[in-house]
Amino acid sequence: MKKVFIKSYGCQMNVYDAKRMADVLRPEGYVEVETADNADLVVLNTCHIREKAAEKVYSELGRLRELKGERASRGQDTSIVVAGCVAQAEGAEITRRAPVVDLVVGPQSYHHLPGLIARSRSGEKVVETEFPADDKFDHLPAAPRAVTRARGVSAFLTVQEGCDKFCTFCVVPYTRGAEMSRPVVKILAEAEQLADAGVRELTLIGQNVNAYHGEGPDGRTWTLGLLLERLAQIPGVARLRYTTSHPRDMDASLIAAHRDLPALMPYLHLPVQSGSDRILAAMNRQHDSDEYRRIIDRVRAARPDIALSSDFIVGFPGETDADFEDTMRLVRDIGFASAYSFKYSPRPGTPAADRDDQLPEAVKSERLAVLQAELDDSRRAFNRATVGLVTDILVERQGRHPGQMAGKSPYLQAVQFEADGVAIGDTITVEITETGPNSLFGRPVGALSTPTRERMGAL
Ligand code: 5AD
Ligand code: SF4
Repeated sequence: MKKVFIKSYGCQMNVYDAKRMADVLRPEGYVEVETADNADLVVLNTCHIREKAAEKVYSELGRLRELKGERASRGQDTSIVVAGCVAQAEGAEITRRAPVVDLVVGPQSYHHLPGLIARSRSGEKVVETEFPADDKFDHLPAAPRAVTRARGVSAFLTVQEGCDKFCTFCVVPYTRGAEMSRPVVKILAEAEQLADAGVRELTLIGQNVNAYHGEGPDGRTWTLGLLLERLAQIPGVARLRYTTSHPRDMDASLIAAHRDLPALMPYLHLPVQSGSDRILAAMNRQHDSDEYRRIIDRVRAARPDIALSSDFIVGFPGETDADFEDTMRLVRDIGFASAYSFKYSPRPGTPAADRDDQLPEAVKSERLAVLQAELDDSRRAFNRATVGLVTDILVERQGRHPGQMAGKSPYLQAVQFEADGVAIGDTITVEITETGPNSLFGRPVGALSTPTRERMGAL
């Protein structure tokens, strides 16, 4: 058996892709290992979204050069592969800057990994960043049942890839390519296989997942709302989630799904990036802050208890104090349950990177600190409001202490509780008793005494 170590950076799609890479390498005799130390093959599954993420790859490659040298002195070969979005964006520049790398492979070519690795073994530096004509999903094998089971009860499933929105700060349309949706039958087959292996929660993923427009079995184009409705019928699928969405693509069928599908969890990650209309226009977001607020109103009307999450960028070129204040106002008005926030990072090849009104690092840092303090308060307020709530938890793993189990609430909060006779994959009813810094604590109760939706409607 050969050993492969795959290290993923960045988004959830990379987490999913890492599993599919392991799946395509398994029939070639590779077993996955937890560290690079004894690996015959090391794959860095990279992220290009911000400068820091890309730089991490080069420092990791420095460490791997030493490791490869040590192994070589013991007569052992190590192949180093750079995959993911840095591979796609930088291509042959990677092998020039880091000659330790044997193979550079973009996200659309993972199904060709065995052949590409074989070529690189014969001494060639291989760079594969084309968008091949064949569909990788048709060639990526499914994991054996036991492997899927061992990966846990909550799984990602890619339904859509790429993006056509071209926000002026973002590399995704260049690294992941044009938007494409997988056909419904293929998604159903993968979902059924996952459910059959014990997966209870499916998170549908895509760079712009709510733009989903896949071919349905009836020959029509299906929306994400329709796809969710169909997936909810699969026996064993207790929970559905999806990420990441664009405000422009929150259509009526998806909002209705939040009202009508009990399996669709009351959680929405809907990046807004900024609260300033001037900045949103400069970002080419195709919506203003009022439109965002109206969408949130419609979603809340459909599902009053929904937990809202978002992404923010501070310090976009030309952002003034007044623009930043608009963002702060939006944050205070909406009351997010969670959020991710970043300093603007110029990405080579994107329109915003060429602007000559870039902001000083100190201004970005200061605004980020102010924003994150507000977002933290908002998250804590949401969590506090769930204390006393009786809700269901999907049990995902053992907790930190003996007898403790851990899982997620419908609102994607991590919850720890003591319980006997509860198995991973069960959904149990818990009263939230306390909030901690990183997770909540709960106490199992008999039945759902207060309907969750009613209680949370008051939030
Ligand atoms: N600089 C900072 N943050 C960025 N994001 C995307 N591109 C950039 C960039 N150039 C953030 C956005 C996006 C999230 C995935 O990463 O907020 O929603
Ligand atoms: Fe990037 Fe998202 Fe904008 Fe697409 S919609 S360009 S992935 S930020």
